[in-house]
Amino acid sequence: MTDDRVVCNCMGVTKSEIIEAIVQNDLFMLEEVREQTGAGTGCHSCIGELEAILKEATD
Ligand code: FES
Repeated sequence: MTDDRVVCNCMGVTKSEIIEAIVQNDLFMLEEVREQTGAGTGCHSCIGELEAILKEATD
């Protein structure tokens, strides 16, 4: 997956934006990622992918 790929189509949030939010703000909860980036706050179909990115970024 390239980092500039849009993960959340509803909110137009890319993987790199999500990783940046996680790293800069020390996020470890899905809810925090949703609050910070807006990703996952629409149709929720990207939640699984958000969890995977969160896991990848915090491992
Ligand atoms: S694709 Fe992320 S909330 Fe719809």
